[in-house]
Amino acid sequence: MSHAYKPVLWNRTKLIYDAFLLVGIGAYLWVFMTLAPMLSAAAALVEAPIWKMRAFGSCAFILLSIILAIGPLARIDARFLPILYNRRHFGVITAGVAILHAKAVLDWYFAFAPISKVDALFISNTSFFQVIGFPFELFGMLSLAILVVMALTSHDFWLSFLTPRVWKGLHMLVYVAYGSVILHVALGALVGGGNPVTLMVVAASLIILITLHLRAGLAEARKDKVFADAPVAGAWVAFGQVDDFIEGRALMGSGTAGERIAVFKFKGRLSALSNVCSHQGGPVGEGKVVLGLVTCPWHGYQYRLEDGCSPPPFKERIRKYRVRVMNGTVWVDPTPLPLGTVVEPYPIPKTANPVIANPEISGPETSSPDAPDTATKGGH
Ligand code: HEM
Ligand code: FES
Repeated sequence: MSHAYKPVLWNRTKLIYDAFLLVGIGAYLWVFMTLAPMLSAAAALVEAPIWKMRAFGSCAFILLSIILAIGPLARIDARFLPILYNRRHFGVITAGVAILHAKAVLDWYFAFAPISKVDALFISNTSFFQVIGFPFELFGMLSLAILVVMALTSHDFWLSFLTPRVWKGLHMLVYVAYGSVILHVALGALVGGGNPVTLMVVAASLIILITLHLRAGLAEARKDKVFADAPVAGAWVAFGQVDDFIEGRALMGSGTAGERIAVFKFKGRLSALSNVCSHQGGPVGEGKVVLGLVTCPWHGYQYRLEDGCSPPPFKERIRKYRVRVMNGTVWVDPTPLPLGTVVEPYPIPKTANPVIANPEISGPETSSPDAPDTATKGGH
């Protein structure tokens, strides 16, 4: 969070996450480089340095594919959210493995080049006008350059320095990097440099990624439609039934003008906040309440339920909204309150409200025993 510059804000979860990742990568490389040549005669025939560059290359590709799959997977099924949490470290480690692959290539193929190895790579093959024999390494270089730039700018310092819009645009280049790797491997295989298993893995990953992105997009569109059809009373939008809420979790939806809102239930009270994290726009509502603070699932930014502010010394803030319950239905006023406005969490009435039968007539703003969340400004 934006308190003071620290290269990495370590915590126990990040350490466990990174340990898992590094052990997984180590195991993959060991199986590829040590076990496979012992078990397979075909693998043993390939020269060790070439086998090594294939191990690093395929590992980098698998990591990149997983990174791209995490986003849609987490949108389809919340159980994948823990993997999303530390995707930044995942990306940096992937760039590191890709660098090892490129280094192995340069050290082997251009070991005796009289000029710099990188220059030699650029000028060694200029067959740009043929498919078989095209300098596929250039596509590898393009994706490596993108991965390295993304790793270098992954720190939050760059997010605020470049502005979220530019930063997000820059990091969307990951899709260009992925497309470029597909071309890299496919064209490499055509000149005989790749093995068929890698080619099949690449094709399968492409199909899986496209399917996941389409499914996540459809799921999101369906969710939006449900809330677009929700009953509206004056400015208030019905968010669902009290019984639909799970302790410590949120129900998400959109206001009439498309504002994304998350309503959390915590200790029998409801709080409505923006569903857009002030860090990188993560879905706050897919997180949970941890020690009384709403915790964004993407990178763990936290917000207070009553005013949407991060606890000191952090300064992030998200909007608050007013919430009411009537006859078991939860209503939200989608008009965003000024940043920092305090709205005390709304206690869920024990029984259905017998006085206010129709919010269209009396309006959820009616002062009643069920309307205690008087808003006070400037809470932070
Ligand atoms: C400067 C950047 C790069 C260069 C010069 C480069 C070069 C090469 C070369 C020469 C091969 C063929 C190796 C062989 O003889 O079998 C290869 C294969 C491969 N590269 Fe790269 N590469 C680069 C970047 C990348 C990146 C960024 C990735 C993935 C994120 C990647 C993934 C692969 C894969 C998956 C293979 C196929 C391995 C196999 O056949 O099993 N490369 N690369
Ligand atoms: S913590 Fe990064 S998007 Fe919410």
